[in-house]
Amino acid sequence: MTQHLAAPATATTSGHRAEPAPWWRDAVIYQVYPRSFADGNGDGMGDLAGIRSRLPYLKELGVDAVWLSPFYASPQADAGYDVADYRAIDPMFGTLHDADALIRSAHALDLRIIVDLVPNHCSDQHDWFRQALREGPGSRLRERFHFRPGKGADGELPPNDWESIFGGPAWTRTANPDGTPGEWYLHLFAPEQPDFNWEHPAVQDEFRSILRFWLDLGADGFRVDVAHGLVKAPGLPDIGSGDQLKLLGNDVMPFFDQDGVHEIYRSWRRILDEYEGERVLVAEAWTPTVERTALYVRPDEMHQAFNFQYLTTNWDEKELREVIDGSLAAMRPVGAPTTWVLSNHDVTRHATRFGNPPGLGTQLREQGDRELGLRRARAATLLMLALPGSAYVYQGEELGLPDVTDLPDEVRQDPSFFRAEGQDGFRDGCRVPIPWTREGSSYGFGSGGSWLPQPAEWAELSVEAQTGVAGSTLELYRAALAARREHPGLGAGEAVTWLDAPDGVLALSREGFVCTTNTTGAPVRLPAPGALLLASAPVAVNDGFAVLPADATAWWTV
Ligand code: GLC
Repeated sequence: MTQHLAAPATATTSGHRAEPAPWWRDAVIYQVYPRSFADGNGDGMGDLAGIRSRLPYLKELGVDAVWLSPFYASPQADAGYDVADYRAIDPMFGTLHDADALIRSAHALDLRIIVDLVPNHCSDQHDWFRQALREGPGSRLRERFHFRPGKGADGELPPNDWESIFGGPAWTRTANPDGTPGEWYLHLFAPEQPDFNWEHPAVQDEFRSILRFWLDLGADGFRVDVAHGLVKAPGLPDIGSGDQLKLLGNDVMPFFDQDGVHEIYRSWRRILDEYEGERVLVAEAWTPTVERTALYVRPDEMHQAFNFQYLTTNWDEKELREVIDGSLAAMRPVGAPTTWVLSNHDVTRHATRFGNPPGLGTQLREQGDRELGLRRARAATLLMLALPGSAYVYQGEELGLPDVTDLPDEVRQDPSFFRAEGQDGFRDGCRVPIPWTREGSSYGFGSGGSWLPQPAEWAELSVEAQTGVAGSTLELYRAALAARREHPGLGAGEAVTWLDAPDGVLALSREGFVCTTNTTGAPVRLPAPGALLLASAPVAVNDGFAVLPADATAWWTV
């Protein structure tokens, strides 16, 4: 077990030692996508040794914690979200020894490590599923999954009308051990990702044990994949509407956001609470409303949930204000911090989303207006980092990377692209390995190329090209994160006060601090609220007035 991080107690003005707020309430958490962050062994695929070698970069960037997407043994049918062994590292990422070394090195730098837990489904190569197939219908080993006979005279139709999130039916028919057509099994995602039956005690026990395995190794917490999916409505009822699902959408469905999931998280919370060091559970829960999301972070459940309503909000003053107010209000009754997120490995990067017309969703294939997208992305980031709560940063957004929208179809690997016959599932575009240097194989990602091709323009977006360059996106992130540490008003607390502002401008005040965001495409003149602290674009201040450029955010101390 590694040494755990202890939060220092803070001294109050009265001289008493006050309990500090838990670290995660206002933490900035950086998402590493292991395939695409840094390649330590030159095979073109990122790995744990690569991540470890870049920890000093993350420390310098100023984040508090790192969330790692899955690195477990996996056939990689869904980039590692199809886990064959939850206690082993895929050889392509390294060994358990590398994971241990990574956690220790991170802790030595005072960085926390959150690992990705994938409990809704496993890989079809997981021992349990292979055994279940081998044993045939009627076997108790099948009860750990959702096996059902088909409908129709010969069982040739799926048991119900559910669609996979990745397209096509959510059921695949198996062959019996004697080769005849057999039962069907449920997979909300790819056929290689059979859903566990969470009513089964063995499934529940196994995951409690997996939690302990990673907690014992020193993990500071878990990002819980598809946290809204584990429990299915009794009887697996038809949906009936014939509606197609949107990828990872917020629809009300009999397999999402069922009340039964909460008991599972309560039992997990009890386990985490046994460990020292404020370990956390973070829900990836796509729910119809922020109020439903808040249920996952009640005091005896998880600590945080991703705010996907915020992620999917357009660059529009009223919409932003509404979602900020709604998110804060929804979390208040449960006492959880609100979280903010703009990008992750499942959605088109926000620098590209914001350069496209609003309302196109999160799977874009168009580059849009690149300059506009970056301008808004920088402004959106400063707005996000000024809000109370915890913020998530997805690797490469600190470089202002756009999505790679023109990947040739033959290099794509996202299973949803193939299941949707190329009409959806463009997630490879945000998964392209990030550039570290101007020159060299894969721009410093590794010495042996990169598993997805990187655009040539990325040389100038590399860490090397942006380091020390005033106004670069990387330096903006560094300055913002440094300011967030220096100014307690940023990130802390649970509320914002809205100030009067011209149309299209958001102006919010926190303790000792004001954030102004111009969402319009034209400069706006307004009384300078204080001393300029940081801005996403040059702000002119004269005679007590400031000119906020188009699509820009400025931070002020007051
Ligand atoms: C989550 C992951 C996504 C994955 C899916 C199935 O939404 O973020 O990448 O494809 O779950 O595990």
